[in-house]
Amino acid sequence: MTTVKMTVNGTAVSGPVEGRTLLVEFLREGLGLTGTHVGCDTSQCGACLVHVDGKPVKSCTMLAQEAAGATVTTIEGMANPDGTLGRVQQAFQDLHGLQCGFCTPGMVMSAAALLAENPKPDEHQIREYLEGNLCRCTGYQNIVRAVLAASGQDPVLAAAQ
Ligand code: FES
Ligand code: FES
Repeated sequence: MTTVKMTVNGTAVSGPVEGRTLLVEFLREGLGLTGTHVGCDTSQCGACLVHVDGKPVKSCTMLAQEAAGATVTTIEGMANPDGTLGRVQQAFQDLHGLQCGFCTPGMVMSAAALLAENPKPDEHQIREYLEGNLCRCTGYQNIVRAVLAASGQDPVLAAAQ
């Protein structure tokens, strides 16, 4: 066991890890941040996606020790300071971009990373960017709409205004 230190959702944290401890295990079991989900453990589904130093990372593919000293953001860090849902989270809720919700934390983190890179993505760019995030429920249509809405360009909402 060694002690790993990092900043998670703006707070300096530390905890014991083994060499084989994955970042997702440290987040969920070490820190109790269970909003980050484990869907496959094999880098397929994207449910475990978090931001590490601002970049999207499937946290089942990274050892906790590799994130030592890094700044990590999880879905729990996406809310506004007053506790209300953040912009991307709110858009997923408003546009029904989720059903069971299992994929949603990873989808939201991935969408937020896309919007940080490209504030006005088109539908094709959204689908391409979210390729690494699997959803068994929604058929993706409302997820794409939610990301469009979060970027201020949902065609249905615009038509209704
Ligand atoms: Fe990490 Fe599926 S649990 S990609
Ligand atoms: Fe169920 Fe995406 S909402 S897996």
